[in-house]
Amino acid sequence: QGKTYQFKLVLLGESAVGKSRYEIMDAAILVMRFVKDHFDEYRESTIGAAFLAQTVTLDDDTTVKFEIWDTAGQERYKSLAPMYYRNANCAVVVYDITQASSLDKAKSWVNELQRQADPNIVIALAGNKVDLEAKRAVETKTAQEYADECGLLFVETSAKTAYNVNELFDAIAKRMPLE
Ligand code: GTP
Ligand code: MG
Repeated sequence: QGKTYQFKLVLLGESAVGKSRYEIMDAAILVMRFVKDHFDEYRESTIGAAFLAQTVTLDDDTTVKFEIWDTAGQERYKSLAPMYYRNANCAVVVYDITQASSLDKAKSWVNELQRQADPNIVIALAGNKVDLEAKRAVETKTAQEYADECGLLFVETSAKTAYNVNELFDAIAKRMPLE
C-alpha cells in the first residue's frame, strides 16, 4: 500500500576517498563493526564500477530505493563515468577531508555533472573520513560555502564509524521529486 520510488544514484570522486565504503550501511554489518571493531583497513580499489542497492524509509508510507553505481576513481577509468551518470537521478561526489586535492577533483566532477548530466540531477557533496579529524586538510566551512554556492547538499561522513552515512542518503531521498 505504501509507495516505493526507485532512483539511480552514482558515486563519483577521486580514488581512495572511500566511495566503496558507503556500502556498510547495512544495519547488521554496522553492528558487527561496532561490536567487533571490524573494519578491514585494506580494500581493493574498484575496477570499472560496482553495483549496490540501498533502501531508505522516509515514513511508513514512503520507501526510496537507490540503485547505486559505485564508479572507479582511478584516472584510467575516467572515460567510463558518463555511462553511469548519464541517466542518474542523483549523484554523491565524495572527497577525503584529509586530502585537499580530492576536493579539487570533486569540484571538477560537479562541473562535469552540471554540464553533462540530467539538468534535474540532485547532487550531494560528501566530505568523508571525518574520523581522521587530526589530519583534516579541508575545513568544513570551505566545503559548505562551495556547496551552497553550487546548490549542492553537503554532509561530512565517516564510512569507518558510519557517522552521517544514513543521514546523507536520507537527505538525498528527501530532496528527490516524489509525486
Ligand atoms: P576507488 O575504488 O579507487 O575509486 O576508491 P574508493 O573511493 O572506492 O575508496 P575505498 O572505499 O576503496 O576506500 C579507500 C581506503 O580508504 C580504504 O583503505 C578504506 O578502508 C579507507 N576508508 C574509506 N572510508 C574511510 C573513512 O571514513 N575513514 C577512514 N579512516 N578510512 C576510510
Ligand atoms: Mg571503490
